Amino acid sequence: MKKFNVLMALLIISLMWACGGGNSATEASSAPPPKSMVEEDADPMENKGIGPITELKLDEVNQELVADGLKVFEEMCTACHKVEKKFIGPSPKGIMDRRSPEWIMNMILNPDEMVIKDPIAKQLLIEANGAPMANQNLTEDQARAVLEYFRTL
Ligand code: HEC
Repeated sequence: MKKFNVLMALLIISLMWACGGGNSATEASSAPPPKSMVEEDADPMENKGIGPITELKLDEVNQELVADGLKVFEEMCTACHKVEKKFIGPSPKGIMDRRSPEWIMNMILNPDEMVIKDPIAKQLLIEANGAPMANQNLTEDQARAVLEYFRTL
């Protein structure tokens, strides 16, 4: 029995030793991650993108504007975007939950600069195999109408 106790003690000591070693590994991994990772993990809703729209407050959905936006979307966007599925570009379904309204408007109005400088747009360009979002030269009002339509998807 005594021998058994000694073995147990040795086992416990060696386990504590192993855990001690593990601790320093945990400390190392809790060090701040490199900056590139911080940017990827940043809240996408905080990103307003790059372009003419810096601040946009949304009221209740305006159905007239939705109808205008649907028209613009069907004429200028459905060559590459489908609501039901990913096409050449992503589906706009649920986009209001993953992007800020400012970002969406800037992506519509200023895609050329966005895909070069904005971290999310850069990533989307990679996912689209390098097919860039086309600048359709919408006016700000047209882009705003499309955004209103997106709010209903
Ligand atoms: C020639 C194809 C093409 C046309 C036309 C086009 N897009 Fe895009 N769009 C893309 C691609 C491809 C992407 C993904 C980003 C990239 O690769 O640059 C994209 C991305 C987007 C995004 C970001 C999507 C997300 O999930 O974050 C929005 C918003 C968008 N487009 C809106 C529009 C609107 C609105 C129109 C019409 C005015 C339009 N696009 C017309 C190809 C197009």
